[in-house]
Amino acid sequence: MSTTYPSVTASSLAATALRWAGVAWFLVAAFGQAAFIWFILAFYGVRTARGDFAAWNDKPLIDGYVAGDDAGNFVFAAHALLASAVTLMGLMQLVPGLRRTRPVLHRWTGRSFLAIASFMALSGIWLAVVRGTYLSVVSAVAILVNGLLILLFAGLAWRSAVQRRFERHRIWAMRTFMVVSGVWFLRVGLMGWVLVNQGPVGMTDDMSGPADVVLVFGSYLIPLTLLELYFAASRRENIGLKAFAAAVVFLAAAYTAAGVFGTVAFMWGPYL
Ligand code: HEM
Repeated sequence: MSTTYPSVTASSLAATALRWAGVAWFLVAAFGQAAFIWFILAFYGVRTARGDFAAWNDKPLIDGYVAGDDAGNFVFAAHALLASAVTLMGLMQLVPGLRRTRPVLHRWTGRSFLAIASFMALSGIWLAVVRGTYLSVVSAVAILVNGLLILLFAGLAWRSAVQRRFERHRIWAMRTFMVVSGVWFLRVGLMGWVLVNQGPVGMTDDMSGPADVVLVFGSYLIPLTLLELYFAASRRENIGLKAFAAAVVFLAAAYTAAGVFGTVAFMWGPYL
């Protein structure tokens, strides 16, 4: 009896490792983002539905509910609650099965995702600039740049879809997902850092310590860089580059898993 084995070459091994690294990272991120959605609904959703707006401040916030500031409270509520919708829609867009089998759903969730993401950026910029909600100037600048990148990338993803340039659209949509996830990455990055270092090394209360500065800008610049590495390695027939990218993405998945554990156990869980 003879058995035929599929031929395994270094090139196919590197390509498979890269694909699985991407899948591993996505599964960890999907779990962590589902936890973020669950926290937003269980914390802000429940308190808002009860009409107990002052209870938004049951967890540490810079402003949250401010007595007498109706406009600010309204924008804060819309921003915090819609964060659950944008996170859910972003995840749905990335599931390949849904994209293939439900193209109409993909188009509608895609349009809603881009519209809500733009609202998140504009309302976030309003909260920071008009309401004056920020901890330090450096953290405010970092999140303002994040907001501007969301608007720019969402515009480019939308334009390439309208022009039916689908490969370009896929690339800009993935970049948009990364910058829209910046706020989630920041929380995961902060908790991952605290866990890995067993303490808030290089961090200050107003988020202006050296580790804070790296994390506030890194919350979107690092994921964007890794995404570009993933794209370049997927495109090129370079075994070394594929193997390197696979190792980096696996490491990122491990760090993300530590950060997700930290956010659920210490940042969100205790307030539910
Ligand atoms: C699209 C991605 C975004 C998501 C998913 C998101 C999510 C959230 C959530 C859940 C909160 C409630 C606070 C908390 O529990 O942590 C919040 C607050 C806030 N967000 Fe966003 N946000 C996004 C984008 C932005 C942007 C781009 C900016 C600024 C340019 C911004 C500025 C703020 C501010 C100033 C607060 C109030 C924080 C406080 O009072 O402590 N957000 N955001």
